[in-house]
Amino acid sequence: MRTPLLAANWKMYKTAEDAAAFVRDFLPRVAGLSGIEIALCPPFTALTTVAHEVRGSGIAVGAQDMFWEEAGAYTGEISPGMLVAAGCRYVIIGHSERRQYFGETDETVNRKVLAALRRGLRPIVCVGESLSQREAGTTEEVVKSQVKAALAGVRPEAACEIVIAYEPIWAIGTGRNATGVEANRVIGLIRRQIAELYPANPEVPAQLRIQYGGSVKPENIVEFMSQPEIDGGLVGGASLDPAGFATLCRLSAEAASRRVRERA
Ligand code: 13P
Repeated sequence: MRTPLLAANWKMYKTAEDAAAFVRDFLPRVAGLSGIEIALCPPFTALTTVAHEVRGSGIAVGAQDMFWEEAGAYTGEISPGMLVAAGCRYVIIGHSERRQYFGETDETVNRKVLAALRRGLRPIVCVGESLSQREAGTTEEVVKSQVKAALAGVRPEAACEIVIAYEPIWAIGTGRNATGVEANRVIGLIRRQIAELYPANPEVPAQLRIQYGGSVKPENIVEFMSQPEIDGGLVGGASLDPAGFATLCRLSAEAASRRVRERA
């Protein structure tokens, strides 16, 4: 049984002080929720603060990017070991904004995925098609090639630790989300592809979590969480407000427990 992951991608929002205020407001609101995992992914400068504030709560911390080398003359970069030391369990890799603005490629995504796994960090690997790719009918091809490239050389035991976030680019920050049915279809396709990539290891597609991301909010989270293939969400804008994100997490936990009951 896969535990859905609700991850907050704060992007370039919140100072360490803002982040601490968020966590203090957020924690009591989600205390006692079960059946889901929650992760907060603040900017680098707030990682240690958030890790300190969430200690003992069961909430995980993630970074939004990293470099693949452990140390060296790489001005401006952050290593996997530094993220572990800062208290991270997760690291978002290959977000479409990094691909679009910072030259991230399928090859650098793969190097980062391998480096994260070597250090025991769980990558949240982002894939998704652009609007023009969608309109050209190439969604499946694009997403499959991104997944295949990201997982190149990843051993089956490590692959089970990976989270994939299917984030159609046209749905990010636009208020225009994919429908639950459509996201479930593409995510099902990704899961079948993972099964093909690991033909001798059925536990990989069974365990690897695949989230939906793109204009997820309290008003639509239940639609996604009710789909059998969707293992939670990667949430941008709607994760910045503690009350709103807590509502989203509570609705997710309720939907997850309904899903468990229905499968029993
Ligand atoms: P929004 O939820 O703001 O659309 O952002 C999605 C996203 O990019 C999460 O990584």
